[in-house]
Amino acid sequence: MAKIKIGLFGFGVVGQGIYQVIRKAKNANAKIVRICVRNPDKPRAVEVDRALLTTSADEILDDPNVNLVVEVIDDAEASYDIVKRALIRGIPVVSGNKAMLAHHLPELIEIQQSRHVALLYDASSCGSIPVIRNLEEYYDNDLLLEVKGILNGSSNYILSRVFDHQESYAAALKQAQELGFAESDPSFDIEGYDSLFKLVIITVHALGVYVAPERIFTYGISTIHEADIRYAREKGVKIKLVAQVVKVGEDSFTLFVMPEFVTPDKYIYSVDDEYNGVVIRGECYDRQFMFGKGAGSLPTASSILSDIMARLHDYRYEYKKRNYLRTPDYTTDITLKIYVRYRTTDVRSILRFERIHEQYTSDESNYLIGSISLAELIEKRQQLSGNDVFVANIPIFFLGSDR
Ligand code: HSE
Repeated sequence: MAKIKIGLFGFGVVGQGIYQVIRKAKNANAKIVRICVRNPDKPRAVEVDRALLTTSADEILDDPNVNLVVEVIDDAEASYDIVKRALIRGIPVVSGNKAMLAHHLPELIEIQQSRHVALLYDASSCGSIPVIRNLEEYYDNDLLLEVKGILNGSSNYILSRVFDHQESYAAALKQAQELGFAESDPSFDIEGYDSLFKLVIITVHALGVYVAPERIFTYGISTIHEADIRYAREKGVKIKLVAQVVKVGEDSFTLFVMPEFVTPDKYIYSVDDEYNGVVIRGECYDRQFMFGKGAGSLPTASSILSDIMARLHDYRYEYKKRNYLRTPDYTTDITLKIYVRYRTTDVRSILRFERIHEQYTSDESNYLIGSISLAELIEKRQQLSGNDVFVANIPIFFLGSDR
């Protein structure tokens, strides 16, 4: 009998992928013994023994045979309920639910520590790329300066199709949904929230600090316009949706999610389609780059498998930086250089720029490039919504790096 007996919650795109990868991995020593679904009669691409299916979470949580809960359901609140109940009962959990984790990590860390039980979630951030475990284990010191990258496959897929294949934004979004990359509510992808949730989780493991999602400036790609694409092409750059957490001083860091003009010399310039790419910068090694599929059934399932296998060796996160290092403070008191395209919105009277570097007006659209504090952007975020405005970051240097 397998050593790890899994109670699986969710049998959608990722759940079915897990079922497949466990069967492929001959040395997995793990078996799915129960699957909790909302609707057992729903037709599914993967054939499964119906006796495994249940609609009752309790049936799994009360089953003494289950020694690992794997949770990949598409509902953050239900996921929170299941994960918390499992951990409190002492059952270790593997989860891929970034929205749930980003909102509840402090409490879930506390429960892990008080109950001596593990919660692993490498699949929550960047699909198949092992970002979390590497940040936790390899970068287990305070020399890390920055983690920056493309964390959302769907928005990257859309931007690639629009930029490189001249497809329409709407057609590209539909394809991302059909290919199973997009969230059930794709506004999470295109408004930047999916990247935000992943960034919150990454920051816990990169710097040991939890910052609640609502405190972080987040701007997506939903209002991108032909004029922005034309501007980027003329400058020889691409627009990518970039999430970053970066040390800006000895004891301070900042983080935000926003579209960015990316020049061809940057690693993430060549990260296209549903791929993710993460650049890690540190004091002693300059930059390292991790690249891979960030979305989709099997890539995400392979990351879940890796966490399942880690449980064979009783692996758990120690939250080393949180527990043993002096952690830096979050600041929004930094200056960014941004591009703002607008038509009728009075951007200059809404935003207090420290300096305007460039501006352009025409009958069709206007843009300006200016320096502005992150705190000001956070304060005015709501006024920058709507189709009339698009904001993009123009990278500047922090801590003397040439990035
Ligand atoms: N919707 C997410 C993405 C799925 O497109 O990246 C993987 O987290």
